[in-house]
Amino acid sequence: MNKKWWHDKIAYQIYPKSFFDSNGDGIGDIPGIIGKLDYLKELGIDIIWLSPIFCSPLADQGYDISDYYNIDPRFGTMTDMENLIAEAKKRDMYILMDLVANHCSDEHEWFAEAIKNPEGKYGKYFYIEDVKDGKMPTNWRSYFGGSSWDLLPGWSDKCYLHLFHKKQPDLNWENKEVREEIYKMVNWWLDKGLGGFRIDAIINIKKALPFKDYPVDRDDNLSKVNNMLAEAQGVGEFLSELRDRTFHLHDAFSVGEVFDVKENEIANFVGDNGYFSTMFDFGTTLIGGDEKGWYAYKSVSPEEYIRTICSSQEKMNDIGFLANIIENHDEPRGVSRYLPEEGRTEKGKKMLALLTMGLRGIPFIYQGQEIGMENVQFSSINQVDDISTIDEYKVALRAGLSEEDALHAVNKYSRDNARTPMQWTAEKTAGFTDGEPWIGVNPNCNRINVESQIGKENSLFTFYQKLIALRKNPEYKDVMVYGRFVSHAKPEENLMAYVREDKKKRLFVVANYQSKPQKAVIPGQVVKVLLINEGELVIEEQELLLSGFQAAIMEIQ
Ligand code: GLC
Ligand code: CA
Repeated sequence: MNKKWWHDKIAYQIYPKSFFDSNGDGIGDIPGIIGKLDYLKELGIDIIWLSPIFCSPLADQGYDISDYYNIDPRFGTMTDMENLIAEAKKRDMYILMDLVANHCSDEHEWFAEAIKNPEGKYGKYFYIEDVKDGKMPTNWRSYFGGSSWDLLPGWSDKCYLHLFHKKQPDLNWENKEVREEIYKMVNWWLDKGLGGFRIDAIINIKKALPFKDYPVDRDDNLSKVNNMLAEAQGVGEFLSELRDRTFHLHDAFSVGEVFDVKENEIANFVGDNGYFSTMFDFGTTLIGGDEKGWYAYKSVSPEEYIRTICSSQEKMNDIGFLANIIENHDEPRGVSRYLPEEGRTEKGKKMLALLTMGLRGIPFIYQGQEIGMENVQFSSINQVDDISTIDEYKVALRAGLSEEDALHAVNKYSRDNARTPMQWTAEKTAGFTDGEPWIGVNPNCNRINVESQIGKENSLFTFYQKLIALRKNPEYKDVMVYGRFVSHAKPEENLMAYVREDKKKRLFVVANYQSKPQKAVIPGQVVKVLLINEGELVIEEQELLLSGFQAAIMEIQ
């Protein structure tokens, strides 16, 4: 495996709208991020990914871009952005932006031109089709509900494709001019000194053509987009062109949001000379999923969590690096989702942190994860802003759930769980803003906040610091970054255990993922215990007696 500059880095995702508001308008902004760079440095972060801050109507919170070359005034100015890149550089940190190129906003000038003249140059930037006998070209359901086709504004016989929201028309990657526009824009940003990009929803850029219907899978008479994507061939041609024309020229880092990758294609995505430097491991976010909708999702058991992670890690040893996450802006908070109720404590949160940070791959910490932010209890659907949650709420109602049950079901999976303001202090607005926050603050900021954890010996924040420091410790860095992953887990006993090893060192990472104590065999002589989440470690010869939710990393021979 060729060594790259990003292999030993620790990344952090910022959701700018909710990170820190510098001017009291209730919306987080770039100057707010600059003000918190030292905080991130103190945690040990090297790479910062910003969810989109380009001009946008914010129909999907910035994932609907109306101008790729400008910063949305709500987030700041281009000068702010240039300052952020420069200030990061001073601290040896890198900034990633979000490349949202499967679609743009319906308020982008390309779309405005396409509406004026669907047969012209810009009409060909999109998928515009004729509506025949009032019928849409296919029966695909958009990710956010309803048909993925809508009438082209001002036209009664023409429609356009949007796999996501109707305000997010899909760009036609089959059109070389579109690809050239994207490459030009990516290079323009990389020339400004970005470290790279996170690549949004990228698997969607290749559609199975010609258009056709797929089997109906819900009572809305539509078919999920994944059915079409499974038949789409040749996304790799677009992705290698993107890599060669942009990222490679700048030695930039790229991390793909890739779902549904076929097993035998993983190496093409993230092997040596893969399309991307890395891609997220979404395995755990898919556990318990159900075709019917969120209301039918099942909670995640420790056993499934352990199995899922261990199997994807083992697969990757000879291929490349995954980007390891507990949560992101599209998912509920990981501590609320993956820890059984008895384990939603500081100890359990530290266990989850230790297990994730010990994995092979590039850790991505989502804002607030380092202090253990939890899901929100929305008491009315009106408190929710996210379009996806609102759609899933309707799906649940249509399936016959009461308003109360529907709300309860979507509460657990709402993307807004992760989008409430970062909790800096115990104040009413969590120290996020001096004004009225754009979305409600989680009232538990009175006990979960940065101020009460930073510099405190036993806090979760400090524990994350120690885990990061261990990954960077010259003595362990090589094995932490490049060491193979070997599972010693017993998922059926809720024991997650693995060895990371190279020619020089072996580390044993172990956790008792349940409340009752249990024993674990140590696969070697203990040289040194490096980190424990809580309490003393009881070691008898080759055996560990772990208390409930206890976890540790040790060097072994
Ligand atoms: C990705 C983003 C998500 C967005 C979608 C459409 O999944 O992470 O937030 O809604 O793409 O751009
Ligand atoms: Ca602001």
